[in-house]
Amino acid sequence: MLQVNIKTNKLIFSFEKEIEIFHVNHEENDDQFLKSLDFMDADESERIKSLVCYKDKRSFAITRYALKKILADKSSLNLESISIQSLKGQKPSACNDYGAHFNVSHSDTDSVICVSQNYDVGIDLEPVSSSVFCSELSDCVLTAREKEIFHSLLPEEKKQFFLKCWTAKEAYCKLLGCGITENFKNLEITLGQESMIKKVDQSEIHFFWSGTVKNHCICVAFRHRLGK
Ligand SMILES: CC(C)(COP(=O)(O)OP(=O)(O)OC[C@H]1O[C@@H](n2cnc3c(N)ncnc32)[C@H](O)[C@@H]1OP(=O)(O)O)[C@@H](O)C(=O)NCCC(=O)NCCS
Repeated sequence: MLQVNIKTNKLIFSFEKEIEIFHVNHEENDDQFLKSLDFMDADESERIKSLVCYKDKRSFAITRYALKKILADKSSLNLESISIQSLKGQKPSACNDYGAHFNVSHSDTDSVICVSQNYDVGIDLEPVSSSVFCSELSDCVLTAREKEIFHSLLPEEKKQFFLKCWTAKEAYCKLLGCGITENFKNLEITLGQESMIKKVDQSEIHFFWSGTVKNHCICVAFRHRLGK
């Protein structure tokens, strides 16, 4: 049987040992790309066909394979029986209960997969060199209070602050499943705190930032499924 061996690094973060983040570097797994294609279902193969750039095809296939492998390991099922539903504009979910909820984010070079049994999760990975950082965009993304803080910072601090706000807002929208159509100005990030908590409909959404993927900023938003 065909062996695919995607190298995933398990990152340190685990909240009450319940949230795990796996990191996949695309270049490191380049030789596994073609083999991983054999594990894609019809929809996934169509998706890969529709992508124009090789690096996007590779990123999707090896990350999707790694996700299926993680879910297979957690549920003790065969990887072939793991199926992911990805409907346009909706948060991808598992077709059956594999005992874990997940969310994925890609950059040009790396991907992260966040998995949890008891938490709904949203994750965003953004390169530090990202072009999302610019004054024009900061006007649409930051709240009035965030803007005030932003303009008082030194240039290098500005970038870090913006990336923290941006990734948190993306992760928040991805947790909710609404994508970045949700108004970013509805979420205010508190500067100087390593974690923040937002109350939404009685349940708390927590945020965690990490710099464990080289030259990237990661933010995870997570909420207990029982609203604890
Ligand atoms: C879906 C969306 C959140 C992805 O964000 P991104 O920064 O482009 O890409 P990321 O790499 O962080 O995330 C991609 C992953 O998010 C997941 N995803 C897709 N739709 C999602 C949704 N509605 N909610 C949560 N996660 C979603 C998928 O797993 C996807 O990876 P996969 O296709 O390999 O499975 C974003 O494209 C979006 O909001 N789109 C709808 C609105 C829009 O297009 N606005 C454009 C104007 S700014």
